[in-house]
Amino acid sequence: MKNNNIFITGVAGFIGFHLCYFLLKKNYRVFGIDNINNYYSKDLKLKRLSILKKNKNFYFKKISLNDYTNLRKIIKYSKSKIIINLAAQPGVRFSFIKPDQYINYNIIGFFNILRSMEELKIKKLIYASSSSIYGDAEKFPTKEYSKHKSINLYGFTKTVNESMAELYNRMSDIDSYGLRFFTTYGSLGRPDMFIDKILNSIITKKKIYLYNKGKHTRDFTHVSNVVEIIFELLKKINNYKGSDNFNICSSRKVSILDLIKKIERYKGIKIKTIKTGKQKGDMLNTYGSNKKILKFIGKKINFLNLEEGLKETIFKKYE
Ligand SMILES: NC(=O)c1ccc[n+]([C@@H]2O[C@H](COP(=O)([O-])OP(=O)(O)OC[C@H]3O[C@@H](n4cnc5c(N)ncnc54)[C@H](O)[C@@H]3O)[C@@H](O)[C@H]2O)c1
Repeated sequence: MKNNNIFITGVAGFIGFHLCYFLLKKNYRVFGIDNINNYYSKDLKLKRLSILKKNKNFYFKKISLNDYTNLRKIIKYSKSKIIINLAAQPGVRFSFIKPDQYINYNIIGFFNILRSMEELKIKKLIYASSSSIYGDAEKFPTKEYSKHKSINLYGFTKTVNESMAELYNRMSDIDSYGLRFFTTYGSLGRPDMFIDKILNSIITKKKIYLYNKGKHTRDFTHVSNVVEIIFELLKKINNYKGSDNFNICSSRKVSILDLIKKIERYKGIKIKTIKTGKQKGDMLNTYGSNKKILKFIGKKINFLNLEEGLKETIFKKYE
């Protein structure tokens, strides 16, 4: 019988939840872990898990990447031949408040994944990197060969992850895809992300801070497209040798001010904002090229535009 088992970390998180939800519908048996930390609402993480747990093919254990013994045990138990590592400490601003968490979760945690894989002879890895590795990129749309010039510890930990994955490919034949996600958004999203902050500010009627006076641009990418791409990569990785990195983005540039106008039009309301200066570590513009990933998977992806994406984000209901 075909082994449809897959081991995924960070399943109570935003992208992890959407990926599991999608793969369970495709009849994968998902073995998931998460440490359910309190970086943002634990209730939101538990809500995502309660939706996933309705599927009998979803197995969950609350384990940290940093608990090596139990991590290795659950990976072995899963009998999965592929690991998807999405667990990490995200966020730029928080990296100035709790830098040690980025080293512990993103570097030591990632090392524990690689170490378990090496010991258990698991050879295929897909893991989350980030557009933050580019820092303030000079060329747009930014291509994968552009320099790594992170301007915060978060981006730096992802650069280190990519180097570690390349080393473990040379040293232990672990083949990997590093996915440089650009601002991913969608239903049950992260409350620290801008679109969710705006939507929450509408409910709470609070004003929202517009850093850099809202002049930033972001390559907003809907999570359904991100998941679709990971699914295509899953189909390819068994026959792949090497370690490569891909931008995962819609390759569309939207300014924060335009985003606000779109949401105002969509909701028929005026959003209250406070314009303020640039935040330390924030990138001014992100806008990536997705040519490499589209060529690699050999499939057209119908990237949702913001109107379509916002509709899903606001109205999607989970049974
Ligand atoms: N959402 C984006 O726009 C975006 C952009 C670039 C990169 N990424 C990366 O994609 C991945 C998923 O991001 P997300 O938006 O879903 O974030 P998220 O915070 O919603 O999900 C991460 C999950 O990992 C868990 N986790 C963190 N550290 C852990 C540890 N040491 N052990 C076990 N679980 C741990 C958290 O509790 C959380 O549920 C992350 O690696 C993130 O850095 C996301």
